[in-house]
Amino acid sequence: MSEGNGVPRDQVFATEKAEIPDFKFNSEVANVFDDMVSRSVPFYGEMQRMSAELAGDYMVAGTNVYDLGCSTGTSMLLYGANAPKGTRFIGIDDSQDMLDKCRQKMTAAGFEHELELRVADLNEGAQIENASLVSLVLTLQFIRPLHREKLVRDIANGMNDNGCLILVEKVLGEDSLFNRQFIKYYYDYKARVGYSELEIRQKREALENVLIPYKLLENRELLLRSGFRYVDTFFKWYNFCGMVAVK
Ligand SMILES: C[S@@+](CC[C@H](N)C(=O)[O-])C[C@H]1O[C@@H](n2cnc3c(N)ncnc32)[C@H](O)[C@@H]1O
Repeated sequence: MSEGNGVPRDQVFATEKAEIPDFKFNSEVANVFDDMVSRSVPFYGEMQRMSAELAGDYMVAGTNVYDLGCSTGTSMLLYGANAPKGTRFIGIDDSQDMLDKCRQKMTAAGFEHELELRVADLNEGAQIENASLVSLVLTLQFIRPLHREKLVRDIANGMNDNGCLILVEKVLGEDSLFNRQFIKYYYDYKARVGYSELEIRQKREALENVLIPYKLLENRELLLRSGFRYVDTFFKWYNFCGMVAVK
């Protein structure tokens, strides 16, 4: 079955699995990713729209814009519409399946900026240079905690002064009391957008050791001690948040 935009509906966890392996961004996921992410992340479209609006104030001709964990390129397409001529885009992901989808989608949309897609593991840091904007949308949460500090430092170090980082993450509540509530209401949200109890349970198990959220304030501290001068939250819905940081 296909959604109106031609992306097949996410049914990755719709049938009962004997064993639940760790979640992977493989070809099965890449094929349905745009449906999966837009239904799994509340206000995904609005967060992307806001990110692109903010990005438009920072992207500078002659500099690089990086999208780390770019998946199918949704952010780059939106940023591209607000970027000056002469901006160079670099999408990085460790899933070749995602980058193949990304290339197809950007070509079909007639993306008009220079574009490089790189396969790389962000657990090893990132090669960032002459950057006016870096985007980490729902990606830092998949980087092992041990490697997060170095990645964020690499970003800050490779960024020009007044460069901007957009960070969208799933987060923990600041207190376990609220965290339980937020998670409960998040699963209610998933049921409202059509995921069955089985799908919600199996996906939760698959993500358990793979997606490791920090608290919003932990992310804020990480950004401040890594070289960003200004940090603010531009979006928050229970256990999802969008942050903006400027070097
Ligand atoms: C939830 S998706 C990001 C969504 C995307 N940024 C968007 O705006 O729709 C996470 C992405 O990060 C990539 N990823 C996960 N771990 C990674 C790693 N260690 N190195 C590079 N990419 C990674 C995945 O392949 C996936 O495409």
